Amino acid sequence: MRAIVVRRFGGPEVLEPVEVPTPEPGPGQVRIRVAAAAVNPVDVATRAGILTGAGVIPPREVLGLGWDVAGVVDAGSGFEVGTAVIGLRDRIATPLGAYAEQVVLDASAVAPAPAGVSPAEAATLPLNALTAAQALDLVETTGTVLVTGAGGAVGGYAVALAHARRLRVVAVASESDEALVRRFGADEFVPRGPALGDRVRALVPGGADAVLDTALLGLDALDAVRGGGEFVAFAAGAAPIPLRGVRVRSVWIRADGPRLAELARLASAGVLPLRVADVLPLSAAATAHERLAAGGLRGRLVLTP
Ligand SMILES: NC(=O)c1ccc[n+]([C@@H]2O[C@H](COP(=O)([O-])OP(=O)(O)OC[C@H]3O[C@@H](n4cnc5c(N)ncnc54)[C@H](OP(=O)(O)O)[C@@H]3O)[C@@H](O)[C@H]2O)c1
Repeated sequence: MRAIVVRRFGGPEVLEPVEVPTPEPGPGQVRIRVAAAAVNPVDVATRAGILTGAGVIPPREVLGLGWDVAGVVDAGSGFEVGTAVIGLRDRIATPLGAYAEQVVLDASAVAPAPAGVSPAEAATLPLNALTAAQALDLVETTGTVLVTGAGGAVGGYAVALAHARRLRVVAVASESDEALVRRFGADEFVPRGPALGDRVRALVPGGADAVLDTALLGLDALDAVRGGGEFVAFAAGAAPIPLRGVRVRSVWIRADGPRLAELARLASAGVLPLRVADVLPLSAAATAHERLAAGGLRGRLVLTP
């Protein structure tokens, strides 16, 4: 089967199409015939060697790419062959990922695909919706939550999930994204820019109870949180010093099939927005990486083998 791997770090040109033996599922695993694989910032960071440099991925001769998959089970245990599924490949240091014609995942990382949506749409769900859900699990407030990067993939899901939990949601995003994030469920909107803390406090006296800082603003986002509030960071090195008694935590995504099944149901019900920027063939993975790195996309680029 065909797959895209990296054998050396660098720009999009190091993404290498290879012909490899079809992977066989082991105990407790399923093999998925990939219909769609989303392209995420973590793939770009993996390809560029940033995650290996940061000690997140140990040095490997070959690295597969792609966390998010939608497709159909074609072998293994835990799901019937022929079931339409989505899954998350959270074992980042393996030689094959979802940028492939077939991928093997633990059955515990897989869930039935959301009904009534295309495979490309379904492939945009696992990594970013699970991250948003697991980040929200870290906060205890029932009051006001600030979401930075609310127009982004994780941020959009975070707004929708927080709204579904009946939290008051203050969204920070580009001015042009106001209508979008209000559709996701934002109660208040603050355009990105300087003096974030002051502008949030003008709407929420004393500051927000919690922030999900998907835009990695760090101290600027912390300044918008009340003393003794809560802060969730989304990347290595993105957690600020816990000034004013703010409890700072980091979310690290983990596969969770039952939770993913719940999120798929929410997506089918229209509670979670599935956003596809464009669909490209697997062979155009390098173009997808260039376009993602260039910025300005709304929704995910999706590869189809
Ligand atoms: N820890 C984990 O387990 C985990 C899992 C998944 C993702 N992540 C990380 O979470 C972060 C968000 O991921 P994503 O996929 O949602 O990325 P994304 O789709 O690129 O969204 C990031 C958003 O942040 C906005 N932004 C950037 N700088 C900003 C600023 N200074 N002020 C306000 N907004 C700003 C961007 O707006 P514009 O587009 O307008 O610039 C964009 O909407 C990434 O760093 C990713 O690596 C972590």
